[in-house]
Amino acid sequence: MRIGIVGAGQLGQMLGFAARDLDIECRFVDPSDNPPAASCGEVIRAPFDDPAALAALAASCDVVTYEFENVPVDALRAIEAEVPVYPPADALRHAQDRLDEKLLFGRLGIPLPGFHAIHTRDDLDTALGKLGLPMVVKTRRLGYDGKGQFVVRERADLDSAWATLGTVALIAEQWVDFDYEVSCIGVRNVGGDIAIYPLSRNVHRDGILSTSRSPVDAPSLADKADDYTRRLLTNLDYVGTLALELFVRDGELLANEFAPRVHNSGHWTIEGSDTSQFENHLRAITNAPLGSTASRGHAGMVNLIGQIPDAARALPHGVLHDYGKAPRPGRKLGHITITTRTGEERDALLDIIERNVTQYA
Ligand SMILES: Nc1ncnc2c1ncn2[C@@H]1O[C@H](COP(=O)(O)OP(=O)(O)O)[C@@H](O)[C@H]1O
Ligand SMILES: [Mg+2]
Repeated sequence: MRIGIVGAGQLGQMLGFAARDLDIECRFVDPSDNPPAASCGEVIRAPFDDPAALAALAASCDVVTYEFENVPVDALRAIEAEVPVYPPADALRHAQDRLDEKLLFGRLGIPLPGFHAIHTRDDLDTALGKLGLPMVVKTRRLGYDGKGQFVVRERADLDSAWATLGTVALIAEQWVDFDYEVSCIGVRNVGGDIAIYPLSRNVHRDGILSTSRSPVDAPSLADKADDYTRRLLTNLDYVGTLALELFVRDGELLANEFAPRVHNSGHWTIEGSDTSQFENHLRAITNAPLGSTASRGHAGMVNLIGQIPDAARALPHGVLHDYGKAPRPGRKLGHITITTRTGEERDALLDIIERNVTQYA
């Protein structure tokens, strides 16, 4: 069995490590020099939408998947006749456009913050009248790690928001004064079986994920998130791992966005779950039975962003994952996970680790 993966970043690398244990061979397409997944299989060095590279992948693999969310949908559709491509291109299409994504949440009865599509400068005034302040203006496409977003705090900010982002399709969203953020990771295999991981509670700094902890002690939220994630998986006829990001406000959930791939907030599943999100993604797309998503304790994860300080390599606790990427401000270079017996132990240990690894950042 050989799978083709579009993208050879750290998500591809962790898929590759899981594949090795399942005796699945990997082959990648990625334009960068020496990407993290290069140690896991051959990398065809080409842009993500290069027709010849994707055709070569399709011709040499049993199934194709992707770890990079901005693969052009048409490029995947072009190889669908040759080889199964999972998750389905339609799911990717929804996830790539924040407006489409929100309309989908609405159709599926998944609660979400107010929003307004922006085409002209005047639309920003209309949005402000409808959504109030603060409001966040986002590019509909290609945003990640908080990029392509502008928070409008007062009416006078509208001109700067338009000047900064107004050249591409935009959406305005109500700013949610959330209590905290969670994500729900679910997986569905070719046969339609579904498994859902316990919720993760996530903290972002400057729009980038900083820490995740799981499980979350909020059974009614977990039930709702489970239900919403199942609706997405079923309705999209989804195959693979999917992550749904949600805001928690006053005991209610509001959907923010979903990622049609393995997700940073699920990295703790490598050590903290019976089956990692990466292994379950591979099982799903190869139509194998899904593995148990039961937790092995209380898991925590700290992202290593910008640099991996020496302190991160000298910790007596936790498992360090170094993706082997060159340091650069704002870049995800690795993460550390811990698994403890109680939530209190986890939180105390995570705080210590976080202080140690971020004090130099
Ligand atoms: N409408 C909003 N209200 C409050 N916080 C928000 C809102 N939109 C985004 N954020 C904050 O910014 C982070 C990144 O935004 P998100 O929409 O998830 O984009 P990205 O694709 O960059 O992950 C969110 O996890 C959240 O912390
Ligand atoms: Mg996000």
